[in-house]
Amino acid sequence: IFQVAAASGHTVVLVDQSDEILKKSTKGIEESLKRVAKKKFADKPEAGAEFINKTLKNLTTSTDAASVVHSTDLVIEAIVENLEVKNKLFKTLDKFAPEHTIFASNTSSLQITKMANATTRQDRFGGLHFFNPVPMMKLVEVIKTPMTSQKTFESLVDFSKAVGKSPVSCKDTPGFIVNRLLVPYMMEAVRLFERGDASKEDIDVAMKLGAGYPMGPFELLDYVGLDTSKYIIDGWHSLEPNNPLFAPSPLLNKLVEEKKLGKKTGEGFYKYK
Ligand code: 3HC
Repeated sequence: IFQVAAASGHTVVLVDQSDEILKKSTKGIEESLKRVAKKKFADKPEAGAEFINKTLKNLTTSTDAASVVHSTDLVIEAIVENLEVKNKLFKTLDKFAPEHTIFASNTSSLQITKMANATTRQDRFGGLHFFNPVPMMKLVEVIKTPMTSQKTFESLVDFSKAVGKSPVSCKDTPGFIVNRLLVPYMMEAVRLFERGDASKEDIDVAMKLGAGYPMGPFELLDYVGLDTSKYIIDGWHSLEPNNPLFAPSPLLNKLVEEKKLGKKTGEGFYKYK
């Protein structure tokens, strides 16, 4: 998100918990920018290098959100998928942010209204949900709660377009559009595998070759992160315990317990070098 905002000319401050994490993130962004530049400026390597330099000039980092928020027009939160932790952050930022600043959450599954209610700016609060890998995926879901003002909603739509994405809107409902369809599908794939009906490799091949998906459900679960997937399904299960689409999976729980969280930890449903 940080990368696409900076690449489209916005001044951005990336905030995280430690300098070490920020260093790792900045390195990841540099690598990703190189891939984007290689494609965008295939015949003009000099223009590509200038694009990277210009983008990096728009970026700064900080470990102190409260001290940098005073100069922002828009805050996009993309921290751990835990309502209490998110609300604690928003409460603090609400005290230090200017009056006009819009707050947005990139939550995958939590209610935006509950976060807005932790602040005094319910009318300047909405959802901006991006998709992995953000530089490649063209979609942003823009979420308007019953309290989000029309002006705020339009600003979020305009921002999405300004960073080169195609916005769609959805009410503040669990999973919005994409995850409400995608997560039950991935969980159903895990259940198919848990029953022993097919191997995970065959399920992945089947959905790629039979449905034209770029990744199979197990590849995608590993890519999204098994911990994130578990947070999503557990949250929805507690909201609707009788909905079979939201039933937790013993296999997913076991892998998360074993810290096999997917690509980022080197192992999930598959092993990565
Ligand atoms: N930054 C920049 N460029 C990237 C990139 C990144 N992080 N990741 C991939 N690319 C580029 C590559 O450079 C490559 O460019 P090229 O065409 O010029 O060679 C192109 O994307 C294709 O990449 P690869 O050849 O490495 O691999 P694929 O063809 O398999 O594409 C993919 C990779 C774009 C990730 C594709 O597999 C895909 O679309 N997968 C599905 C992703 C998806 O479903 N995302 C949604 C997840 S759900 C979510 O995010 C919601 C959350 O709330 C849980």
